[in-house]
Formats: sequence, C-alpha cells, structure tokens
Amino acid sequence: MRQAGRSLPEYRAARVGTAMLDACLDPALASEITLQPVRRHDVDAAIFFSDIVVPLKLAGVDVEITPGVGPVMGSAVRTADDVARLRDLGPLTPEALQPVSDGVALTVDALGETPLIGFAGAPFTLAAYLVEGGPSRDHLAARTLMHADPATWTALTQWAADVTGAFLRAQVLAGASATQLFDSWAGSLSLADYTAHVAPASARALSHVADLDVKKVHFGTGTSELLAAMRDVGADVVGVDYRLPLDEANRRLGGTTPLQGNIDPALLAAPWPVLEAHVRDVVARGSVAPGHVVNLGHGVPPETDPTVLTRVAQLVHEI
Ligand code: CP3
Repeated sequence: MRQAGRSLPEYRAARVGTAMLDACLDPALASEITLQPVRRHDVDAAIFFSDIVVPLKLAGVDVEITPGVGPVMGSAVRTADDVARLRDLGPLTPEALQPVSDGVALTVDALGETPLIGFAGAPFTLAAYLVEGGPSRDHLAARTLMHADPATWTALTQWAADVTGAFLRAQVLAGASATQLFDSWAGSLSLADYTAHVAPASARALSHVADLDVKKVHFGTGTSELLAAMRDVGADVVGVDYRLPLDEANRRLGGTTPLQGNIDPALLAAPWPVLEAHVRDVVARGSVAPGHVVNLGHGVPPETDPTVLTRVAQLVHEI
C-alpha cells in the first residue's frame, strides 16, 4: 500500500515541521514512519519510507517535493549540456547513501520477522520528472526527447539507471529483503517505445541488484500492454494497476509470473460490502497466478479512513 502512511494521523503528527525529503533523510524518523502502517494494519511486509527522487537529491540534483503536487526540479533537464552536467555530478556513492542505509538498518532491526521492501523509481519515471521539471500529464517533453535526440535520452536514462540502481542496492545491502521498481508513468508509452527507449535502462537499474539474493517486483500504472516487456527487463513479480483484472494479466504473462495487485484505491471510500466484494474478487482472480502479493492497484488516497485499510488487511488474512 504505497503512501499508506499519508492517511494516518500519527504520520501527519510525525511530519509536522519537517519537509518530505528531510524526513526521508532522517534515519530515525524514516524508520518510525515505516513502522506506523505495520503497527496499525498488521500487514505482512513494510515498504521503506523514502521517495523515488531521494537518490536524485543525494546525487546533487536540485529537487523538492511540494505537498499536493509531487517532485519539482529547480530546472528542467532538456539538452545534451543539461545531461552532461548531471553526469558530471559523478556516481552516487555508498557514503552519500548512508542516511538511507542507516534508515533501512534501523527499520529492519525494529521489524524483526516482518520483511522490508526496498524500492526505487525506474529511469523513465525519473526522466519524466527531470525533463518536464515536475509532474506532467502525458510526459510530452520526455517522450519528445527520446525521439528528437536519442543519444541524449540514452545518456540521461543510463545516468538515472545507475543512480536509482545504487539507491536500490544500498537498501538491500542494509537488510531489505525484497525490492520494487516503480515505473509509475510507463503507461504513457507505446510498447515499441518502451522496448526500444526505456527497457534497456530499466534492465540496467535492476542489474545493480542482480548479484544479490532478492526478489524484484516491477510496477507501473496503465501498463496493461507492457506487462511482459516489464517482466523481461529482469523482474520476478509484475505489479498490476487496477485497470486490468489479475486473471487477464496472468494470461498475458503466460501463467508463469507471480503478480502483485490490484485493489482499486477508489473503492476504499465505497460502502464496506462493495469493497469487500471487490477484495474477494481480486484475491480470487489473483489465485490463478503462480503467486499473488495482495496490494492496491496504486497508492492510498490521503483522505482514506485508516480503519478501512486495517479491515482490508484482516479480510485478506481471513481469505
Ligand atoms: O507509503 C510509503 O510511504 C512508502 C514510501 C513511498 C513514498 N513515495 C513516500 C511518499 C514510495 C514507495 C513512494 C514512491 C513514489 N514517489 C512514486 C512511485 C509509486 C507511485 O505511487 O506511483 C512516485 C511517482 C513518487 C513521486 C511522488 N512523491 C508523488 C507523486 C508524491 C505525492 C505528492 C502529493 O502530495 O500528492 C510524492 C510525495 C510522497 N512520497 C508522500 C509520501 C508519503 C506524501 C508526502 C506528504 O504529503 O506527506
């Protein structure tokens, strides 16, 4: 349940006076926030409190997270020179990643038997923020760049792959026992563009943890046409958003790939019998896949009643 913490009063209390990215880089605070939804909802795993733009910040990019908006860059990355300046920042070192490693280590200690999922943004989604300068609807500037100047696009996404891969690797080395790569905006791409201009960089990001014994989940929204291509970059599990029923996702993947998903976040605010029927349907459809991690089909809306999330977790455990 991504951004599950946002709906919790204890999360909002913990965050008072601390900017989002400062909270991510405070190991004790990041650890406490990670634990809050686990205590509340008795879920089977925790997801580390951080953000996909944290490695960009640690690499030296001017980025902030504006509440209600999302990641916003000091300046957009549009030209070959802009990309060269990013590459001049150099690799993201384990020393720079120390606040992340410390936060993960504290969290893993406190979680005991409950596994911690580490995560990172995929190069396309990061590039979409960098090229647009902030959130955008169709990621037009990023998609233009990949065709107008493929060499600059490749340089940008390779840089992003190494920065985000280093972030993922630091979390696993500090004790995370599964990983998730978020290509949240990949759904704006055709399969042909994904395969030619994005998949190589995503494979490169995941290659940073290829030598470690850790399962890799790969998720995006609006990716019904991309599921097999997203698996084929090196994922063990494919995350599915709420748009495609899991039995159909399983068919598209040839019945060989475990799935994650895909309760529709909109139904969290529906009357309980409606939500209950939906959760039972998701679990039934997911049961045809070789494995199923029950999760939402995208993040938790901030206004969600947390007691509903607790009830969903209970229901899934009962089933
Ligand atoms: O649930 C968790 O807290 C896990 C940690 C987590 C966050 N962001 C914390 C966060 C994870 C896994 C993410 C991933 C993330 N961040 C993605 C990929 C997953 C997805 O949802 O598609 C993306 C695209 C981002 C970028 C980003 N950061 C967005 C779009 C936003 C929301 C902006 C808003 O206010 O609507 C953020 C901020 C953010 N990241 C919050 C949290 C808890 C909210 C901060 C707050 O308002 O307190």
